Amino acid sequence: MRRFTAEYLETTRAGMWDDSRAALADLALDSRERVLDVGAGTGELTQVLRAETPGEVLALDADRELLEHVDPPRALGDATRLPFRSGAFDLVVCQALLVNLPDPVGALEEFARVSRDRVAVIEPDNSTVTVESTVEGEAVLAKRARSLYFDGVDTDVTMGEASDLFAAAGLDVLGVSRYDHQRITEPPYSEQALESIRRKASGAGIETNRETILAGETTPDEFDDLRSQWRAIGREAIEQLQDGSYQRTETIPFYVTVATL
Ligand SMILES: C[S@@+](CC[C@H](N)C(=O)[O-])C[C@H]1O[C@@H](n2cnc3c(N)ncnc32)[C@H](O)[C@@H]1O
Repeated sequence: MRRFTAEYLETTRAGMWDDSRAALADLALDSRERVLDVGAGTGELTQVLRAETPGEVLALDADRELLEHVDPPRALGDATRLPFRSGAFDLVVCQALLVNLPDPVGALEEFARVSRDRVAVIEPDNSTVTVESTVEGEAVLAKRARSLYFDGVDTDVTMGEASDLFAAAGLDVLGVSRYDHQRITEPPYSEQALESIRRKASGAGIETNRETILAGETTPDEFDDLRSQWRAIGREAIEQLQDGSYQRTETIPFYVTVATL
């Protein structure tokens, strides 16, 4: 199972859904009685669901440490073998879970078993992420690093819209909507943004992906070359930070695919 740190989830989800809850309309959150958020991590989506629905929202994850960041009710469990009776929820939802699973259709079938009304999945298409930056070359290098990373992963991290998977799981799609999550770095810089740029300049950021990138076509020498270019971009970003001119916008498209049962 691919592991995530609480810090990564909390920072990458900051502000997510703040101004675009219309993309969640097909979930009919205002009339839900019992919702299950599968692969909830630190509960970033769980909080949004709890704010929008009058019903109870249960967070489930296979990682005990991440779950400790979520207020109860919460449950430890596996998305492909949910520890609930059939029809126990009127909505089962996940965010950025299926892109990490080797058998996403198996998980969807399990979602359909424990839901009596709707299944919704919110998944990114990481192949169409865009970066704009005041540091020349950052966007191109980020794209290259992503592409080398995709070569090394064994799950579909470019999933986005999940209609084909729904069909394979025997689910009828009610609707698909898109939400572009923007992560903006600009003055005044947050402590998290500063830390992320420091990790870029030291090489620590790209280093966490070394194993995955090397599992693809990339040779160790090519990885070292990528890492030194990454560090140079980080150093240039730090220089721009000092006069407040550094700006970066990353846009990650998320697709919300919803089925009625
Ligand atoms: C990218 S994180 C998404 C977390 C959260 N949904 C969000 O968007 O902030 C993927 C989550 O799925 C969990 N996960 C991975 N495989 C799982 C499985 N088989 N069953 C349950 N959770 C799983 C991970 O522990 C992690 O918390």
